[in-house]
Amino acid sequence: MELRDVFTIFLELCLFFLLLFTAWKQINKKATLPPGPTPLPFLGNVLQLHAGSVAQSFTKLREKYGPVFTVYMGSRPVVVLCGHEAVKEALVDQADEFSGRGKMASLERNFQSHGVVLANGERWRILRHFCLTILRDFGMGRRSIEKQIQEEISFLLEEFHKTNGAPIKPTIFLNRSVSNIISSVLFGSRFDYEDKQFLKLLQMANERFIELNSPWTQLYDMYSGIMQYLPGRHNRIYYLTEELKDFIASRVKISEESLDPQNPRDFIDCFLSKMHQEKNNPHTEFNLKNLVITTLNLFFAGTDSVSYTLYHGFLLLMKHPEVQAKICEEINHVIGPHRVPSMDDRVKMPYTDAVIHEIQRVIAPLGYPHSVTQDTHFRGYLLPKGTDVFPLLGSVLKDPKYFRYPDAFYPQHFLDEKGRFKKNEAFVPFSSGKRVCLGEAMARMELFLYLTSILQKFSLRPLVPPADIDLTPKISGFGNIPPTYELCLVAR
Ligand code: HEM
Repeated sequence: MELRDVFTIFLELCLFFLLLFTAWKQINKKATLPPGPTPLPFLGNVLQLHAGSVAQSFTKLREKYGPVFTVYMGSRPVVVLCGHEAVKEALVDQADEFSGRGKMASLERNFQSHGVVLANGERWRILRHFCLTILRDFGMGRRSIEKQIQEEISFLLEEFHKTNGAPIKPTIFLNRSVSNIISSVLFGSRFDYEDKQFLKLLQMANERFIELNSPWTQLYDMYSGIMQYLPGRHNRIYYLTEELKDFIASRVKISEESLDPQNPRDFIDCFLSKMHQEKNNPHTEFNLKNLVITTLNLFFAGTDSVSYTLYHGFLLLMKHPEVQAKICEEINHVIGPHRVPSMDDRVKMPYTDAVIHEIQRVIAPLGYPHSVTQDTHFRGYLLPKGTDVFPLLGSVLKDPKYFRYPDAFYPQHFLDEKGRFKKNEAFVPFSSGKRVCLGEAMARMELFLYLTSILQKFSLRPLVPPADIDLTPKISGFGNIPPTYELCLVAR
């Protein structure tokens, strides 16, 4: 036997034992985790999980294994939670244990556990507290930000008037306007709608949002161990995010040159001041990396989710013209045709409020991954510290125990028999527990003011009959991306 043959046999044996060891480790770990389909060594549950339709794959597994089950993404076990009860028991009743952020390999490459969205432990606590304080100081959930939102909407309405009722793709209109609200907080001023740098930034952010939800990214998140070494489309999100990071870093540099710590102009200034205060602390979390990445986190979170909710909402309202007509009736009755809508109007507009809730419910996102911060007993299982957990928000928002017609668009889900607004404890588009969306107050204000202000002045007209409007998402990832469409905004 030649030396080369001996070497080949040796390699094959090593591979065999490695496979055996991985399988043994998986089976051994499984003993403490909820049940689930048997994984293949290295590949995990590749046969059961389909990138591009992960939500549907989970629904099928739930039918077989119940509301709490384990799947393997590659060799990584992930505990999946479905329905209101299971998600509430974890995120609310055991809030501390389930407050960790799970692995998101596609983002980790750029962020390396920095920034408020991906951070864990003390770093996350410090950054989250800081973000909440500063956002509140800049008016989140208060009158001052309401004024700013109203002003920004007036610019959007002007742009809509200029279209003269001709067909438009609404994405860029909504993106520019919504993004300007968070941009004012982060960078101290809004961007002009024609600003080339702003348009490029939004185009990249939008592309990145689509990439984030694409099957490529889902594949990467499952098999990053191998895919990080391969060329291909899954790398696009990395380069886009790096470019966006560079943009933020350049804004930080400009702010630093004119910083007056006594008079912070925006979020970046506040963070820079804190960096100066803590410059002698070698363990401080107030460093450049956390500044750039947290700013980027807020920029994405504050732009994409609100503008996509409105974009999706328009489509639903065109599909259901009777709902659009009832909102307009309520606007006429409560606000009239001229006065600018304000947050005080919301309590007097239960139907509109119910429709906004129903829009958010039906576009149900998958949710972000969590992880357990310590060894955690849950429903008779033991989840070792660091185990990833997917609370499927979509399955809560479509839980048949809490919503009569889970898959239909039915605003009455949020109305009582007298037409008054009715809360529903399974309404969790912003998630729940310690990681609950940090911008919820701002987002809820934006959704109400945008929708009422637009419908007060315009009627949303589709280019095809309502029956032909297709609501099937173009892509389903962390969120559902609706199909591309055009509409006409006809002045009232
Ligand atoms: C319709 C609008 C929005 C929706 C549906 C939404 C939804 C969510 C969801 C589901 C999460 C994940 C929570 C979890 O990990 O369980 C989240 C996190 C987050 N959101 Fe939002 N969001 C919206 C708007 C905003 C806005 C306007 C901002 C910024 C001002 C924002 C900032 C954040 C941040 C920073 C996090 C990470 C929190 C953490 O990890 O501690 N979001 N959001």
